[in-house]
Amino acid sequence: MAYAAIAMLQLTPPKIRDFKKQGRKIVALTAYDYPSAKILDAMGVDLLLVGDSLGNVVQGKPTTLSVTLEQIIYHSEMVARAAQNAMVVVDMPFPYCQLGKDEALFAGAKILKETLAGAVKFEGGEHRAKSIAALVEAGIPVLAHCGLRPQEIRQTGGYFVQRQKDQLLRDIRAVEQAGAFAVVLECLEMELAKIATQAVSIPTIGIGSGPYCDGQILVLHDIIGYTAEPTVSLRHVKQYVDLHAVMSNAVQQYVEEVQSGKFPAEEHSFR
Ligand code: KIV
Repeated sequence: MAYAAIAMLQLTPPKIRDFKKQGRKIVALTAYDYPSAKILDAMGVDLLLVGDSLGNVVQGKPTTLSVTLEQIIYHSEMVARAAQNAMVVVDMPFPYCQLGKDEALFAGAKILKETLAGAVKFEGGEHRAKSIAALVEAGIPVLAHCGLRPQEIRQTGGYFVQRQKDQLLRDIRAVEQAGAFAVVLECLEMELAKIATQAVSIPTIGIGSGPYCDGQILVLHDIIGYTAEPTVSLRHVKQYVDLHAVMSNAVQQYVEEVQSGKFPAEEHSFR
């Protein structure tokens, strides 16, 4: 019965691949906890990514490098338990994409074993395609991640717009060949993202890569303005609400009302 329920409701790699043939855009956002995952799932987001951006937006770290496998599993378990329709994808944290196929298999299997997630995300192209193939062969669906790869920040020295056409095309063809069901394209020059999208049969899901990808992904905290500091505008992001301001106002009122004795009123008290 449980198998039947999963097969009917949740998005699977074949269904995501079919979206490209149907010309249906894929909608993806990051999620790190149960209530936000519930809301995203109910609002029709196709793919919930427990990204290692967890390090930046939840833990307040400067890069994604310190996020551990245990931490990502802790958050993924909550997100995957909340999702009824969406596919939950879990980032393979540094350095599980970099250490070869045995480490990749260890992390990928642990993620699927300890959460209800449907797939892992893997940063890397041509040079890491063997690890992707090993994961897929083991029954662990892979969303590949090419273009800007934040886990290589120490090597590259910054988050730059990607314009290297030949390498990018080699990367996305290699991950397609290795069996990835889709590929995230991060921070590509818009025309390059268009060429890349036409070059492969698997869907491309862009972040900061313009309108011609088969789908879009953004960090949830960026589109709702749930940030530690008042929101700084990022070129690739559209902010739909300013939660930093909304939350600051609400908490400020609470502080004032407790200090002045206005809260709790009798109506908030038990008799
Ligand atoms: O970690 C992350 O959130 C990502 C994105 C693609 C947004 O890799």
